[in-house]
Amino acid sequence: MSLKDELTQIRDEGLEQISHTDDLKELNDIRVHLLGKKGPITTALRSIKELPVEERPGVGSYANEIRDDLTNGLTARKEQLEDAKLEAQLESEQIDVTLPAAPVVQGQPHVIQQIIDEVVDLFLGMGYQVLTGPEVEEEKYNFEMMNLPKDHPARDMQDTFYITNDILMRTQTSPMQARTLEKHNFEEGPLKMISPGIVYRRDTDDPTHSHQFHQIEGLVIDKNITMADLKGTLVTMTHEIFGDKFDIRLRPSFFPFTEPSVEVDVTCFNCMGKGCDVCKHTGWIEVLGAGMVHPNVLNMAGVDSETYGGFAFGLGPDRFAMLKYGVDDIRDFYLDDVRFLNQFVKRGI
Ligand code: DAH
Repeated sequence: MSLKDELTQIRDEGLEQISHTDDLKELNDIRVHLLGKKGPITTALRSIKELPVEERPGVGSYANEIRDDLTNGLTARKEQLEDAKLEAQLESEQIDVTLPAAPVVQGQPHVIQQIIDEVVDLFLGMGYQVLTGPEVEEEKYNFEMMNLPKDHPARDMQDTFYITNDILMRTQTSPMQARTLEKHNFEEGPLKMISPGIVYRRDTDDPTHSHQFHQIEGLVIDKNITMADLKGTLVTMTHEIFGDKFDIRLRPSFFPFTEPSVEVDVTCFNCMGKGCDVCKHTGWIEVLGAGMVHPNVLNMAGVDSETYGGFAFGLGPDRFAMLKYGVDDIRDFYLDDVRFLNQFVKRGI
């Protein structure tokens, strides 16, 4: 066989091998074998020198052609195999966008915050301003200006965390009455405010008391405000928070900062007024304190009690939540157990 024919055979067999492999590593082995130093082309080129001089250039350039054919064949096959590999990878890693997504866990306000939000929304709608005040409070605002002078026996009703003789953890949100009255300019209109916040008492450990709990204070001062306004406001709130079937009743009571003072009861959620163990067979459950603001409170804050007057109320959202959802231990609200809290999912926010 002539050297030329030998070269042609090397090319044909080489291209055949190349086209038959599906494996990149194998393709590389073929390349090394065909074009390497010990490969058939190199060997063939070496034997050119044994040819007659005039034939050498022709065979030489033919050998180069053959080498180019093989190189091109190798490159083309390599690209093909790489493309196929990528294709297969894309195929296997395809993301099915129609698969249902993992559910997103959505947080929600704490059940007590939900009650506060409901009350705040309602009063905002009635034109009240919403104010917050300090939890570390001056004794002056917490007691003195709320008509609870030093040594007044009613201070005993609120066991207190004192920080110094004059500074304490507020025992009620009522000091916000004094703070707001001091600042309000009645020439600009009536004062209507609610003030939600946290209060502290050194209460004993029992299921209905916690050393830290929430209150929402309400205050309305203007000319000609009557107890009917107070009752109307409380009825509206009761219907909004508990539902239209719930009624209220007012019972005479005592608070140093209101005169007259009332204790407000709501229809028992458990028996709807028939009488049961929960309401001690009265059909009613006490939910808040209220009354007509004592003239001393107005005067001490620099408001003329001859001209202005109004009502105040203080409610406990913790207690509201207990009533609304029939929870009998207030401390459950503060344990941060999501199994407990998830029962109060507010739907459709
Ligand atoms: N501050 C009272 C308490 O913590 C609640 C209260 C009663 C607030 C009557 C008022 C009110 O504004 O008029 O027990």
